[in-house]
Formats: sequence, structure tokens, C-alpha cells
Amino acid sequence: MKKLSIVVHSGFGHTLYAAGKVCEGVKNKGIDCSLVDLAQDKVDFDLLQQSQTLIFGSPTYMGNVSSVFKKFMEETSGIWQKSLWLNKLAAGFTVSSSPSGDKLATIQTMMVFAMQHAMIWAGYHRHNESLIGVKADEARNFLGSFCGLMLQASSTSPEKSFSPGDLHSAVDFGERIAELTHNITL
Ligand SMILES: Cc1cc2nc3c(=O)[nH]c(=O)nc-3n(C[C@H](O)[C@H](O)[C@H](O)COP(=O)(O)O)c2cc1C
Repeated sequence: MKKLSIVVHSGFGHTLYAAGKVCEGVKNKGIDCSLVDLAQDKVDFDLLQQSQTLIFGSPTYMGNVSSVFKKFMEETSGIWQKSLWLNKLAAGFTVSSSPSGDKLATIQTMMVFAMQHAMIWAGYHRHNESLIGVKADEARNFLGSFCGLMLQASSTSPEKSFSPGDLHSAVDFGERIAELTHNITL
């Protein structure tokens, strides 16, 4: 079975909760999914090496990835030197409290990171369903991001802070990246 790892940081649980939904979507499509929680675990770089696909997840803090996620990025410089992630599939998602909140900068940081590793970047294909008559809080990709998945969370507990549409988007995004893992990775 092909493997996908989600490397995620979450200061207050919202991004980790979203990562669980992305992982649910990945598993729905028959791909083995592991969550690598940067706040808890020493990063298992062997697991990442065995994974055909890596999904990156970070909250947007001050208009970019969190410092913990950036530290992880810098820890991969030895992997970069040996091109060990060449042609792996990569994708990313972020959570923040404002509709924009400068989340695009976070996704772009992840995309540049993946390109430095010569990975193959995949975005989110779903059109904003609120434009075709779905109620705003039930629409997938309500924030209209194609470079990666963007989600908005209020400051309540993670379980209560996302719209149903955003949670559906997270599962849907996981399913898409899993399908691409089946179709384009070796
Ligand atoms: C240090 C810090 C900086 C933040 N910067 C932004 C920001 O630039 N844009 C935004 O919309 N929200 C910002 N937020 C809000 C978080 O993105 C939001 O609370 C998010 O849900 C936190 O995710 P987490 O629980 O996974 O850490 C910031 C929060 C913190 C603690």
C-alpha cells in the first residue's frame, strides 16, 4: 500500500484537527496515512522517506508558517543536499482566524519549500461551491484557494470552530491528494 504522511504543526489544536480530517479523506481512498505532529514527536524522517506523498500543514502565524514549521523546513537541508525527496508528491494546507489572514503567503512558503526539494506540487481542484448556489457555510473551498487548502477557524475549541463546508473541504482535499498518489507516484 502506498504511504502518505501529513507533517503538521498546531499551537492550539485547530490545524491538527483539520489534519485529522485530511487524513480521513486520504484513508477513504485506500492510502496509508500517518500524522507527524511537530509539537509532539521527534520527526521520523525514515517514515517521510518511505512516503510517496507528503502533505504539509501549518497555522498561519503573522502571515506565514509557524516558527515550528519553519524549523522543520530547515531541518530538511541534508535531505535537500542529497535530493532524497525528488519527485515525491507534495501538497499543503493552512488554518487561520481571518478569511484571508495572509494565508496565501503560508501556502506559497510550503510550495517553494516543495520546489526546493524538486517535489511535485498539487493544489486543490474544487471550485468555490458558494458560487454555484451552495450555502456559504456548507460550501467546499469557500475561501477559493487553488494553490493549497485554506481553512478558517474561530477561536472556540477545534471541534466547534470550523464550518461544515471547511471540514468537508479537508476530507475532499485528502481524497484528491490520495487519488493523485495512486495515479502519479511511483
Ligand atoms: C502568533 C500568532 C499569529 C497569528 N497570525 C495570524 C495571521 O497572520 N492571520 C490570521 O488570520 N490569523 C492569525 N492568527 C490566528 C491563528 O491562525 C488561528 O488562531 C489558528 O486557528 C491557530 O491554529 P492552531 O490552533 O492550529 O495553532 C495568529 C495566531 C497566533 C497565536
